[in-house]
Amino acid sequence: MSAVGSTVAGGISDSDFASLRSIALRELGIEISGEKKSLLVSRLAKRLRHLGLDGFSEYTELLNTGQSAEELEEFVACVTTNVTRFFREPHHFDHLETQLIPDIEKRASRGEQVRLWSSACSTGEEPYSAAMILARHLSDRALSNVKILASDVNVKVLEAAQSAEYPKSEADAARADLRGFFQPSPNDPGRVVLADKVRNLVTFRYMNLAKTWPVRGPFDAIFCRNVAIYFPQNVQEDLWVKFAKVLRKNGSMYIGHSERLAGPANTRFRFLGSTMYQLTN
Ligand SMILES: C[S@@+](CC[C@H](N)C(=O)[O-])C[C@H]1O[C@@H](n2cnc3c(N)ncnc32)[C@H](O)[C@@H]1O
Repeated sequence: MSAVGSTVAGGISDSDFASLRSIALRELGIEISGEKKSLLVSRLAKRLRHLGLDGFSEYTELLNTGQSAEELEEFVACVTTNVTRFFREPHHFDHLETQLIPDIEKRASRGEQVRLWSSACSTGEEPYSAAMILARHLSDRALSNVKILASDVNVKVLEAAQSAEYPKSEADAARADLRGFFQPSPNDPGRVVLADKVRNLVTFRYMNLAKTWPVRGPFDAIFCRNVAIYFPQNVQEDLWVKFAKVLRKNGSMYIGHSERLAGPANTRFRFLGSTMYQLTN
């Protein structure tokens, strides 16, 4: 091993891997398992080459000293998994469509502000799926009082989400009555762009679920799907408590297929079935 510690060519030492794990936990709440080691090393090797660094010790030092906010963003992009798709786990959107829309229409059309939150939105498919349901059913008057906050910790996915452009195959796979919301992209014949009526409902913002949230709510529905699974149990439990504080009474909480709402917040939610909960008190 060289004097700079573990290197790209020689692999990563246990202590450098431990440092990276603790940075991911501290900055993102994310627990990196040993199985992810080789994937992370190959992603970070590109960063080391780009920065002209010889070893992982220098890299962890760069992150730890907080000298490079830009590199922290790159690290976040290397550590996070961004897999998503339109109408993933469709029963949540069915619930929104059949159970929430009538009440949202009533309240929003008489001027009440209605807010939804997609709290780990990745490249935007999740909030735009909800927005398509709203745009399909709500009157123009109601729509003018409805907004979806979409947030993520990875600035790269937020940039992609803001462009609202997707491969054409994603539109072809969408429900027939929603396909009209996808329009041909002026930039690329193989891509589509979402209609303004849908885009205008969504506001994207950087937000880290593991830190203080600059949100007040109350939200009618919160999507927190396929992200808590990367957090240790105590971080997950804190998360559910914090969501309970910003959900409206009777508001809906949608979580990912392999996640479970547990811990102190459990008594505040009623299980609606299949990864759906309602705030009861
Ligand atoms: C697997 S994607 C899930 C996307 C979408 N919710 C879905 O279910 O299809 C996980 C997302 O969580 C984001 N993420 C990871 N840690 C986060 C944190 N501490 N705060 C906010 N977002 C985070 C990642 O950047 C990524 O976009």
